[in-house]
Amino acid sequence: MTDSTQTLPVPGEVGKLYDALTLSAMTDGSFNPNVHIGYWDTPDSEATIEEAMDRLTDVFIERLKVDASAHVLDLGCGVGGPGLRVVATTGARVTGISISEEQIKTANRLAADAGLTDRAVFQHGDAMKLPFEDASFEAVMALESLCHMPDRQQVLTEISRVLKPGGRLVLTDVFERFPRKVPRNPGIDKFCSGLMSTMADIEDYVGLLQRSGLRVRELLDITEQSTLRLGEELAKLATAEDRPAAMDESNFFPDEAFQPSDLAGVDDFGCLLASAERP
Ligand SMILES: C[S@@+](CC[C@H](N)C(=O)[O-])C[C@H]1O[C@@H](n2cnc3c(N)ncnc32)[C@H](O)[C@@H]1O
Repeated sequence: MTDSTQTLPVPGEVGKLYDALTLSAMTDGSFNPNVHIGYWDTPDSEATIEEAMDRLTDVFIERLKVDASAHVLDLGCGVGGPGLRVVATTGARVTGISISEEQIKTANRLAADAGLTDRAVFQHGDAMKLPFEDASFEAVMALESLCHMPDRQQVLTEISRVLKPGGRLVLTDVFERFPRKVPRNPGIDKFCSGLMSTMADIEDYVGLLQRSGLRVRELLDITEQSTLRLGEELAKLATAEDRPAAMDESNFFPDEAFQPSDLAGVDDFGCLLASAERP
């Protein structure tokens, strides 16, 4: 069961956190259109962190199975990198929603720069109460955003409501791998407090999806391909003198108590990938 003692994120505060992170990334040269971990298919994959970030979006695209006739909701869209990649790869129309005004301004600017404003629109809003009619979308993608939302059940129920029958959901979320080392690794607490997140329990996910009206298609533990590998790659980069500003972890969360290296080698900090379908 999910740890009921976790402090629940407040959407308005999460929005301010991402406003601040977006503005600081603009000024310190660390801007990255993807605000998520990477995906390395195999242990011997030589992909860079940036290539692995795009690869994670491609892992979503493989499962979304959308074409140019589809309208996709990107729930917790960041600064639009993943949504714009979906448009460019599949031709689908994407609407992104984020609780951060600054991210939305940036995402719409990136869409304009890419000449994709006819296919990609980003708007401010709270995923806890989606501003869309029932059955509006062929697919919903949520890359690492549910961890910031105070009630996963409510968000998933909203997602189910706005999906058309036959529509798909693909998401990634962080979870604690059990049996966990006791006491809980302090890096996980730093992540949760510094980044206003809670950890899911993978055991809960089937029930969460089913109670939301969604049929589970796939539930994977992708920790080895994502969070654990990212920790290794960041550790390597920490000692590289020519690392780009975008990969300098001291630029990731400049004002926060948490840095990604707090989770290096922490194998009970897990990442799951779920896909589901509205019957
Ligand atoms: C880790 S970032 C991921 C961004 C993006 N999915 C990506 O992969 O680049 C988390 C995102 O979730 C959004 N988010 C968090 N809580 C939200 C809420 N209640 N409603 C809408 N968006 C929210 C944040 O604003 C941010 O865009």
